[in-house]
Amino acid sequence: MAKSVALACFLGLFLAFAAADHSPLQDFCVAQAGGSVFVNGMACKDPKTVKANDFSFSGLHLPGNMSNPVGSRVTPVTVAQLPGLNTLGISAARIDIAPWGINPPHIHPRATEILLVLEGTLEVGFITSNPDNRLISKVLQKGDVFVFPQGLVHFQRNTGFGNAVAIAALGSQNPGVITIANAVFGSTPDISGDILAKAFQVDKIVVGQIQSKF
Ligand SMILES: *[C@@H]1O[C@H](CO)[C@@H](O)[C@H](O)[C@H]1NC(C)=O
Repeated sequence: MAKSVALACFLGLFLAFAAADHSPLQDFCVAQAGGSVFVNGMACKDPKTVKANDFSFSGLHLPGNMSNPVGSRVTPVTVAQLPGLNTLGISAARIDIAPWGINPPHIHPRATEILLVLEGTLEVGFITSNPDNRLISKVLQKGDVFVFPQGLVHFQRNTGFGNAVAIAALGSQNPGVITIANAVFGSTPDISGDILAKAFQVDKIVVGQIQSKF
C-alpha cells in the first residue's frame, strides 16, 4: 500500500515536469490495438469506445524474473503495455535487481528518466557526452531519487544484501532502450570485427569472444 502511494505521488510529480514528447492535440488518443496506420506515435481508437482499462496496467507489485546473466529485470509500462499513454509523453517501469546484479549501461534515446528506490541499495550513474565523459555516480538507499538526463549512457547495480526494487518514470510514451553491449556486439548482422577492434583498441579475437556472448 505504502508502495503504491509512493508510486502515485512519484508519477504525479513527474507529470509536473516538461515531458519530451509532443503535446497532445486532444484529451487523449488511446492507441488502437493492431492498428495498421504508420504515424509518429500510434493511431487513435474511436474515443467513444474508450474504457477505463485503456488507461490502466496491473502487475507492477510483482517482482520480475532476475535469473539471467545480468541479474536484473525491467518490467516496462510504455504505450505498448498501456495504450492510453499514446501522445501523453510519459511512461514507467519497475526494475528488479538481485544482489550484485546490474541493469547494464544503456540509453533511452527519447526520454529523461527519474528513478525512485523502493527497496534495497543501488549504485547508479550516467556518463556525460564527449569530450569529458565524466562519470556522475552515487549510491542510493530506499526513498532516494536520481535523474538520468535524456540520451546519456546510464546504469544501476545492486550493492546491497537483498533484492533491490526501483520505479522509473520516463518522459516519453516510448522511451526506447539501446543496451550498449547488445547493440555494439550483438547487432544483426554483426559490425565487422575490424571496426570494433579499432574502436575498442583490442585484438579482433577479443572482439569475437565478446560478440559470441551476444
Ligand atoms: C526465470 O527465468 C529462468 C531463465 O529463463 C527460467 O528458467 C525460470 O523458470 C524463470 N522463473 C520463473 C518463476 O518464471
